[in-house]
Amino acid sequence: MDDLQDKVAVVTGAGSGIGRALAQRFAFEGMRLAVADIEADALDETVALLLDAGAQVLARPTDVTDAADVAELAADVYDRFGAAHVLCNNAGVFAGGLLWELDDATVDWVLDVNVRGILHGVRAFVPRMLAGGEPGHVVNTASSAGIFGSPYTGPYTVSKFAAVGMSEVLAWDLSISGAPIGVSVLCPGAVATRIGFSDRNRPAEVEADKGVPADDADTEAGADAASAAALVTGALRDTTAKGIGPEVVADHVVDAIRTDRFLVFTGDGYAEALRGRTDALLDGVLPPLIDFT
Ligand SMILES: NC(=O)c1ccc[n+]([C@@H]2O[C@H](COP(=O)([O-])OP(=O)(O)OC[C@H]3O[C@@H](n4cnc5c(N)ncnc54)[C@H](O)[C@@H]3O)[C@@H](O)[C@H]2O)c1
Repeated sequence: MDDLQDKVAVVTGAGSGIGRALAQRFAFEGMRLAVADIEADALDETVALLLDAGAQVLARPTDVTDAADVAELAADVYDRFGAAHVLCNNAGVFAGGLLWELDDATVDWVLDVNVRGILHGVRAFVPRMLAGGEPGHVVNTASSAGIFGSPYTGPYTVSKFAAVGMSEVLAWDLSISGAPIGVSVLCPGAVATRIGFSDRNRPAEVEADKGVPADDADTEAGADAASAAALVTGALRDTTAKGIGPEVVADHVVDAIRTDRFLVFTGDGYAEALRGRTDALLDGVLPPLIDFT
């Protein structure tokens, strides 16, 4: 999909980080924008930036874990613009900790946002995009953590592997259907955003206990879980603070849409690391840890 001028882009998680940068880059390309986020105030800030850039903008506070909410977003987009050409299922959250200590509420929250959020976007928009018959592109934000495993990142890594798998299935489903809609799965390394502060997005009913099961909080196992979660969150904050700017990620995404690229890495070392991972798997051994910076 080469010509983006006047086309309609939908971006979830557009109130911050990569989502905001995607929206700004699409505005620069002359696209009309529909932006959504669970944080209404942050979304308002994005809207102000887009309006300053001269874009036509529809903004709708939306929780991607709620299928009906995402369906209403799609209805609003089609009412306003009559089409969606680029769909970026980008909203995401991070939680870490030892896999055997994580509480179900935390795991469900991360899977709901990072996996079901994408599925809800696909269900709400793809049938309408197919009916429109125009060229389009779906960009699902996974992560390099959707390709490479690492310790203490339990639900996040599981969710991102699922996001990569879902993207591959979607690409095949669309291809087999003969649809003019491409798919990219975005797998960035460290990007300077607020992902290390995802606890701000925890729903009230999900204990903000950083992975410590309530009953175990005073036990040795509970303390281990807390320190593992704190350790990995601290490391994520450090790594992302030194990461590439989200606008660099947006450059990769626009290029992927134009060239119909499926897997989108944002750093030079990842392709070689993937070869190393594949060799290790074929040798039947645990793949080596990679440097996510
Ligand atoms: N920053 C990185 O290093 C990095 C690396 C790889 C992948 N990613 C992925 O990039 C995507 C964007 O994250 P980011 O790094 O810009 O972080 P961020 O925290 O700056 O932005 C994430 C946005 O998603 C929104 N969000 C959270 N839960 C939501 C929900 N239920 N419904 C709607 N919106 C919701 C947040 O309010 C926030 O505006 C995520 O999927 C993340 O996993 C980030």
